Amino acid sequence: MSQAPHIRPATAADAAGIARVHVASWRSTYPGILPDRFLVNLSPESYTRRWRALLGGGVRGRRTFVAVDPTDGVVGFASCGPQRTSIPGYDGEFYAIYLHDQAHGQGWGRRLMGTMAAELVGENRRSAVVWVLRDNPSRWFYERLGGQRLAEQPINFAGARLSEVAYGWMDLLPLARQAADPRVR
Ligand SMILES: CC(C)(COP(=O)(O)OP(=O)(O)OC[C@H]1O[C@@H](n2cnc3c(N)ncnc32)[C@H](O)[C@@H]1OP(=O)(O)O)[C@@H](O)C(=O)NCCC(=O)NCCS
Repeated sequence: MSQAPHIRPATAADAAGIARVHVASWRSTYPGILPDRFLVNLSPESYTRRWRALLGGGVRGRRTFVAVDPTDGVVGFASCGPQRTSIPGYDGEFYAIYLHDQAHGQGWGRRLMGTMAAELVGENRRSAVVWVLRDNPSRWFYERLGGQRLAEQPINFAGARLSEVAYGWMDLLPLARQAADPRVR
């Protein structure tokens, strides 16, 4: 393992580390938004299996990155790829970005978004959207990084009727430049 905090493409060997962050971050992000029963029943073992399958090539075009701390291991992850919805004029999508609580506010989020933007640009995608639950306060992060509010739609998830909001970046290059933001640590 490198001695400095860094971001790198995820491999199947990261599945357990990603699942640990996934479950912890969902449990701290979504109380009051997603049903308690759903959050209580999240299982690191089950998400490890899911992530192992995803990282083993389960979904074409999906790219996943991990934020790695030399002491704590995987402290965050992010995934991107082709747009899965149908917002006209945008060809990429940020599918997920989750950090362990202890890793918030250190610049990891900005660098992970930059890394995904650079990856999409490298695949000749110029633009991207992200969908975020309207009640998730982390959505202001996307506005801070220049995302433009594009759309809102209802969504049923885990038995709850929710609303999700799309933000878009028509030009990914300014975001891609933030992949190397020196403010991490
Ligand atoms: C959203 C998240 C990825 C942000 O990562 P982070 O590492 O804490 O953010 P950074 O330190 O890189 O911050 C980048 C900028 O965004 C701002 N920012 C971060 N979170 C914010 C928030 N919730 N509201 C407003 N601004 C925010 C920071 O102040 C910073 O701005 P500045 O550089 O101009 O001061 C992280 O908080 C997280 O994992 N949240 C829980 C999971 C989640 O909701 N993910 C999104 C699901 S769609």
